[in-house]
Amino acid sequence: MNESNIESLSELEKASAELEEIYQRIRKADKAYHGRDDPDIADAEYDRLKSRAKEILKRFPELRSADSPNLNIGWPAREGFAKVAHAVKMLSLENAFKLEDVEKFDAGIRRFLGLGNDRVLEYLAEPKIDGLSLALRYENGKLVSAATRGDGSIGEDVTANARTIPDIPRSIDSAPEVLEVRGEIYMGRGDFQKLNEAQAKSGGKVFANPRNAAAGSLRVLDTAITRSRKLGYIPHGWGELSEQLAPTAAGAMEKLEEFGFKKNPNTRICRSLGDLAEHYSAVETMRSSLEYDIDGMVYKVNDLPLQERLGVRSTSPRWAISHKFSAETAWTRLEGIEIQVGRTGALSPVARLNPVNVGGVVVSNATLHNEDYIAGVDANGQPIRDGYDIRVGDWVELYRGGDVIPKISAVDPGKRPSDSKPFEFPEHCPKCNSRAVRPDGDAVRRCSGGLACPAQVAERLKHFVSKNAFDIEGLGDKQVEQFFEDDWIRQPSDIFTLEDNHAGGSEPLAEREGWGEKSASNLFQAIRDRVRIPMNRLLFALGIRHVGETVAARLSRHYGGWTEFESAIDAASDREGSEWNELVSVEGIGSVIAESLVATFQNERERTIIGNIVGRLEIEPMPEVASESPIAGKTLVFTGTMEAMTRSEAKARAEEAGAKVSGSVSSKTDLVVAGPGSGSKEKKARELGIKVIGELEWVGLVQK
Ligand code: IVH
Repeated sequence: MNESNIESLSELEKASAELEEIYQRIRKADKAYHGRDDPDIADAEYDRLKSRAKEILKRFPELRSADSPNLNIGWPAREGFAKVAHAVKMLSLENAFKLEDVEKFDAGIRRFLGLGNDRVLEYLAEPKIDGLSLALRYENGKLVSAATRGDGSIGEDVTANARTIPDIPRSIDSAPEVLEVRGEIYMGRGDFQKLNEAQAKSGGKVFANPRNAAAGSLRVLDTAITRSRKLGYIPHGWGELSEQLAPTAAGAMEKLEEFGFKKNPNTRICRSLGDLAEHYSAVETMRSSLEYDIDGMVYKVNDLPLQERLGVRSTSPRWAISHKFSAETAWTRLEGIEIQVGRTGALSPVARLNPVNVGGVVVSNATLHNEDYIAGVDANGQPIRDGYDIRVGDWVELYRGGDVIPKISAVDPGKRPSDSKPFEFPEHCPKCNSRAVRPDGDAVRRCSGGLACPAQVAERLKHFVSKNAFDIEGLGDKQVEQFFEDDWIRQPSDIFTLEDNHAGGSEPLAEREGWGEKSASNLFQAIRDRVRIPMNRLLFALGIRHVGETVAARLSRHYGGWTEFESAIDAASDREGSEWNELVSVEGIGSVIAESLVATFQNERERTIIGNIVGRLEIEPMPEVASESPIAGKTLVFTGTMEAMTRSEAKARAEEAGAKVSGSVSSKTDLVVAGPGSGSKEKKARELGIKVIGELEWVGLVQK
């Protein structure tokens, strides 16, 4: 035997061992998932195992064997329900994880059909609902059977249960003699949450996710249970038909809508790969705000005669593919816990993580909320995460839901290092060493240093220039931090003397590293532009505890002008009498906010700082709200090509709706509208966690 043979033998052995291990994990997962509606591994991990097994089999076809688990189709029907044989096999879909996989899919179809690259090939792109498939058979317009997929050939008869679901018509006028509709049963996220809360209260089974709750609610022998659970149904195809529904997939879905079924509003006909990519990212951005879980998009050749020509492989059609979204959860190691000090002195623990991709975004930090959260208890002292605390060195599961900031959803105690210790939350401010106190009943520990704490002062300055406060172009967090460190800016009024002190003299701004004549004069101009400021922005910018944007707006509207407001707060300082009563009667203002305002204005140091800044400004009344548009007051960036309107029209529309359009993406950007071909700007937006939408969604927004 020569050397290379020995090498390939050992590779084959390694591959065989790995494959056996993967098979075992897949079998176990299939059993847990399909047999008990209770998954034991994450979907993404399951998909990864399958892809890995397929890769190995491709390279070592000799490892294929009859008793290996089917890598395309799940577990056989379980006991308890009558079995139904599907007249037309229920197939599965091939997965694409990257756009390149979709390109290959399209190229394969063109090759198969002998179509040139310039021929337009239409695809119907639909969200892939993460539920379970259900085949509904209608004979002469009457629902005669409902069957789960089972192993693809034989499923379970759940007809009685299906009849209790409002989205499923029991009879259809003008249906073909035989009509088999296939679609997805799902449970909305809100209903899932409510169900789990109720189950937890009554000591019933708590489901891991909406899909398992839907499966567990459909596959019960008591129809009353199915009826009481809120299940939805959206069709995505058909099985046996006595006559064609339409010449295209899109037409067939419309026909099903006429028959009384729901249609997914995020379905679109795409005429190019660019269209597919754009729709994919448009739907992916909506993903967390949808009422139901989706795990990707399904692309189907729209023309049905072409579908017919393409045909099916043993377990999946050649004319469709599912383009998966990246998982919204991921496991990684907690490298450290850092304590940040906010502008109100709150000590916020932040998790430093080994970077990991969660839902398409690389995450290296996550919020840990407060010390109770780290200890594993909620505000009422009840255990969270099964009572496990979070320790440095732990394996943690990250979850990115609707909000941009990821959370830690679970800890793996099995992987905890043996020498790990519970995290000790500091009792002194890590920045100024003042005592950090936690009042009774409060979840937050705060630094008591006030304006003597440099961290609090710096954070207050950053807040002062932030987007909804003074919003000074060219003066972001980084610049404020540097100016603060060099003693150029110690309080807000110093911003307005920056030009007097640093236009020339011994320390001119233009000569600082990273600055030049142009950028310095732009900054001075931007600062001058903010001397006139609406009262609500100023009030919000001051960063008084409990005075957010809404409260600032309410106070500004109520008192009309700064002088009136200031004297009213002074007059309310005895916490009684007509001025105090007026203050607490302003809508949304209670004694906590009123107390915070009065205390701030009575504090000598605070009052001096406020006086210094107010003396430099021309404070205007709050402007009337210009528009009810969801983009009013937001900063938008357009990138990539647009089809429904030109870039200038898009800009004009945005401005009409009260939005500001900017040419580059920064932390001040609220929304990026990305068309096909968008490159670095979209990437940057995603890195910054800024919402990115496609043109379709944009058009929807401006029409609102
Ligand atoms: S088309 C030949 N369209 O995903 C199979 N499937 O992984 C055609 N699914 O079994 C399926 N949303 O249960 C299709 N818009 C959609 C779908 C969808 C969810 C499910 C379906 C299928 C599974 C394949």
